[in-house]
Amino acid sequence: MTIVMDKNEISAQPRVRVPQHVAVVMDGNGRWAKKRFLPRVAGHKKGVESVRAVIRAAAKAGVKNLTLFAFSSENWKRPSDEVQALMTLFMQALTNEVQELHKSRVRIRLVGDLSRFSPALQQKIQESHHLTENNDGLNLNICVNYGGRWEIVEACKKIVEKCIPSQEITEDLFAQNLQIPDSGDVDLFIRTSAESRISNFLLWQLAYSELYFTPVLWPDFNEEEFNKALDWFAERERRFGKTSEQISLKEAQ
Ligand code: FPP
Repeated sequence: MTIVMDKNEISAQPRVRVPQHVAVVMDGNGRWAKKRFLPRVAGHKKGVESVRAVIRAAAKAGVKNLTLFAFSSENWKRPSDEVQALMTLFMQALTNEVQELHKSRVRIRLVGDLSRFSPALQQKIQESHHLTENNDGLNLNICVNYGGRWEIVEACKKIVEKCIPSQEITEDLFAQNLQIPDSGDVDLFIRTSAESRISNFLLWQLAYSELYFTPVLWPDFNEEEFNKALDWFAERERRFGKTSEQISLKEAQ
């Protein structure tokens, strides 16, 4: 039997450490478009191709959870034609891509305050959740009208509504009341376009993440760039407050 592999697959060594949860701030669409004298929306459209490439690369590498920041709660303040164009892109992406992602066993969740979206978009989101909810492949979380502080406040509200006594409130219990508890803490955070900010993304889950900032603009970010971030992560020593010696000893055992 002949197995046809591309050049990269033949030379690639399996990574020692693959992050279980990767979170990405997809930044630089506007600047990518401006450099080409194109309208900002052209950058967002090209950015959809990068989204596709990164989903494929993450699944191939064995990442279990991929969380993408697509629209923050502050992004409503952008010019209304840009906001409208982004809503259209979300609708098109869900319409065109969900069946294919479902075939690849991807579980899709849109995370954020969805109530502000049009009834048609909310309906499409619910259909995507429903169709893919039992899939056991990559967990794909797309944050829209999302803010990290909002998520923390929502978790507090849930805990209060359940009348949980204060002595029972632990970090674990709190984390279980976040929006996507099963995706867990973020191992690797990626932000494109040379900005080094967290921008109110996954504030609780980023506590011990490795932070990777790259100058590449999101529309130019592809499988190769994603793999560079994974390679960088594989070399990081994650100490979680311990000493380097303790970590080496544990790894040797
Ligand atoms: C940030 O770049 C990007 C956004 C606010 C939108 C992200 C949306 C996409 C990548 C397309 C659709 C996504 C999905 C999940 C289908 P920016 O506009 O702030 O860029 P700038 O900083 O250069 O102006």
